[in-house]
Amino acid sequence: MLKFDPANPFPLHAEGSHSYSEAKDHATCVDAWLGFRFGSVEVADPSLYGGEEAGKETWSHLSPQAYQTPYVEIRQMLELVQLGAGDRVIDLGCAFARVAFVMALHFRKSEFLGFEICADRVREARRVWQEFTKCLPADNDVFERASSLNIVEQDLASEGWILPSATVYFIYDFGSEIDVRRVLEKLRLAAGNPGAEGDFLVISRGRRVHQLIYQSHAWLGENVVHRNLHFTIFRSR
Ligand SMILES: C[S@@+](CC[C@H](N)C(=O)[O-])C[C@H]1O[C@@H](n2cnc3c(N)ncnc32)[C@H](O)[C@@H]1O
Repeated sequence: MLKFDPANPFPLHAEGSHSYSEAKDHATCVDAWLGFRFGSVEVADPSLYGGEEAGKETWSHLSPQAYQTPYVEIRQMLELVQLGAGDRVIDLGCAFARVAFVMALHFRKSEFLGFEICADRVREARRVWQEFTKCLPADNDVFERASSLNIVEQDLASEGWILPSATVYFIYDFGSEIDVRRVLEKLRLAAGNPGAEGDFLVISRGRRVHQLIYQSHAWLGENVVHRNLHFTIFRSR
């Protein structure tokens, strides 16, 4: 049983020490504590974003607990990649930006940037973030770097979108297959770019993105750093 403790909302637990449904129940308590109002957000019309016919998939038919990564798992993955000063994490399809909340308490020297296609999720994440930052300890330097949440409403598959550089990319089956293919291709180009500052890590989650990596992206598939039941960490070279 993962007990929710408001004094330690994103605890570090060893892999395999709890079940997935315990992690999701814990995340439900965290969301309630943070004050997320999913009801008003999730009734939004999914066709606003183009729907499946336009090659869009926002997972609106699932609950936010089903299409988001549990907070305890996010803490685990960020500990595994040993985030530190100068690191930048980009969440490609960040929904309500759970990663940013975990980073604000445990990885304060690293930067978060999230992209999300659903405007109402972006809006709700920003609203909750404002309340959350009021409760952070006074010495938390997250205020100095980003008093507002670094989240951008963006279709990652749009022609003109340029992938910003990062040391860690997190990609959890964010959208339709065609959109995930496009973004993996942008990552491949970034890895092969002679001007690239260095290698990067990709944390992948979900069946669709895993299949595509192993099918078509050997540059990642052959460089596994860590793998468990839910996510895999790859190095770009
Ligand atoms: C499976 S959820 C993962 C959320 C978050 N990364 C996590 O793990 O908790 C994927 C998110 O990507 C968003 N998404 C889908 N297609 C997108 C696109 N083309 N561009 C940006 N975001 C997209 C969805 O709306 C959804 O909120």
